[in-house]
Amino acid sequence: MRIDVLTVLPGLFDCFLREGVIGRAISSGKVDVRVHNLRDFTTDKHRVVDDVPYGGGPGMVLKPEPIFRAYEELTKEGEKPFVILTEPWGERFNQEMAKELSEKPRLLIICGRYEGVDERVKAIVDREVSIGDYVLTGGELPAMVIMDAVLRLVPGVLGNRESLEADSFSDRGLLGYPNYTRPARFRGMEVPDVLLSGHHAKIERWRKEQSLRRTLERRPEVIERLKREGLLTEEELEILRKIEEEREVGED
Ligand code: ADE
Repeated sequence: MRIDVLTVLPGLFDCFLREGVIGRAISSGKVDVRVHNLRDFTTDKHRVVDDVPYGGGPGMVLKPEPIFRAYEELTKEGEKPFVILTEPWGERFNQEMAKELSEKPRLLIICGRYEGVDERVKAIVDREVSIGDYVLTGGELPAMVIMDAVLRLVPGVLGNRESLEADSFSDRGLLGYPNYTRPARFRGMEVPDVLLSGHHAKIERWRKEQSLRRTLERRPEVIERLKREGLLTEEELEILRKIEEEREVGED
């Protein structure tokens, strides 16, 4: 997969692209990520990328010309990229979107900024994406969040040690179960006995129950949806009935 990023702050991406899982994926050639400075696509002496908004008001707006010039330059050869614009009022990013984007051969992420981007840029944008209901100073952190979530789904990027299997959200949106490592007793806090038992079927059942409990507590709407869509197994429904019975007894 190839990702191009268009930004006014390319330096922000340095550590992100050098370290950890993403750094390794890039240095081993599994993914190709290129960060471009929007100013390199200006034609004036001062390399101006923004201007005041028509109609007045605070803040500056990213000009369309450098963005279109960058788009044309970057798409001169090779496959046409799927174009994302980061915006606080875009479509909310989630795991499903990460999965869809990870299947595209090429992405171009245009980092917006909070005051805005000239509306005519939308002519080249396939999807406007927000990473949550809060306003950041620019689209660089959102671009890194999107890249991180997308790149780890690209085959070969995660090794066995970082397996995808037990992810929160990868299993129908159910939240992950609690994890422990050594020591078995730490400052008076114990690892649950079942995890030390070596009994694989019991461990599986305990994890399933914990995952359902967490989801029911923190994201009850996910359980409702899975029930409605018939996506829970008979065993899971039975565990949920048990949890709900316990809650009723607790309330009495
Ligand atoms: N730019 C500023 N805030 C943002 C957000 N929450 N998501 C995406 N882009 C943004």
